[in-house]
Amino acid sequence: MTVKPAPRLRGKDLVGIDPLSPGEIQLILDTAEKMRAIAERPIKKVPALRGKTVVNLFMEASTRTRFSFEVAEKRLSADSLNFSASASSVSKGETLLDTALNLEAMQPDLIVLRHQYAGAPHQLARILKSSVINAGDGAHEHPTQALLDALTIRLKRGTLEGQIVAIVGDLQHSRVARSNVLLLNRMGAKVRVAGPPSLIPLGMETMGCEVYRRMEEAITGADVVMMLRIQLERQGRMNFPTVREYYDFFALTPERLKLAKKDCLVMHPGPMNRGVEIDSRVADGPQSVILEQVTNGVAVRMAVLYLLAGGHGEPAAD
Ligand code: CP
Repeated sequence: MTVKPAPRLRGKDLVGIDPLSPGEIQLILDTAEKMRAIAERPIKKVPALRGKTVVNLFMEASTRTRFSFEVAEKRLSADSLNFSASASSVSKGETLLDTALNLEAMQPDLIVLRHQYAGAPHQLARILKSSVINAGDGAHEHPTQALLDALTIRLKRGTLEGQIVAIVGDLQHSRVARSNVLLLNRMGAKVRVAGPPSLIPLGMETMGCEVYRRMEEAITGADVVMMLRIQLERQGRMNFPTVREYYDFFALTPERLKLAKKDCLVMHPGPMNRGVEIDSRVADGPQSVILEQVTNGVAVRMAVLYLLAGGHGEPAAD
């Protein structure tokens, strides 16, 4: 399967992976590779988004996504406005819609939204003139995370096609897993998932992945093992008996990792629960690309901002 990059993104927004064609995904990843090169220069800045304003509207906690969007905006010379829900009129009861309409009245070009409710970015994208980027909506989608994961695999392996990717853990509450399953399938990878039955959504097979009860089966012969965080904050009650038991059955340990291919990549979107879903010996081990994922996150977010703002080709140095 040879995927030609699309000439441009068709939509004004990036709210999920589903609306993206393989050619658009290819375009974002190719552009992100060019953006990575900017970070290698002595001066890590280009004027591509000079005069553009980006609002970072984070209504839910974030370290990696929020800071990598901010770094990406600075590297592209955009003006960033950083919104903190607790220090805003949201604390007085103002709705998301009113907040967004008031911010849009200040004429930003792009709005990056993280929100606890699934569909919040889609709602804003329909109403606002600005481009809306989904930085994670509830348990629904996290498209820029899936794109940075794809870039990380592509840089290590040269292609996504045919790669066996095992995604293990709390699939029920994971927007990262949902976006990854959509993207990896679209780009020709083979996706396996595993987790406790209480944390695997019904009908997962219909998304084009093989579902395993036992983690060992899912990771045997895998090219990539992507571990997911147990999201206790999204679980009304514990969906497994004890953390100790979860570790015993579903943690990625050095012993289990031996079942995968010798050069299998270990990934985790962060934040990690060390000693729960992943053993520190693996998280910090030679096969881990967890911090490279974070580095690639800046490049992917630069690419998405640049393309949605109408950029094409390589951004000029000055
Ligand atoms: N991977 C990710 O979304 O991390 P943050 O919640 O820290 O942004």
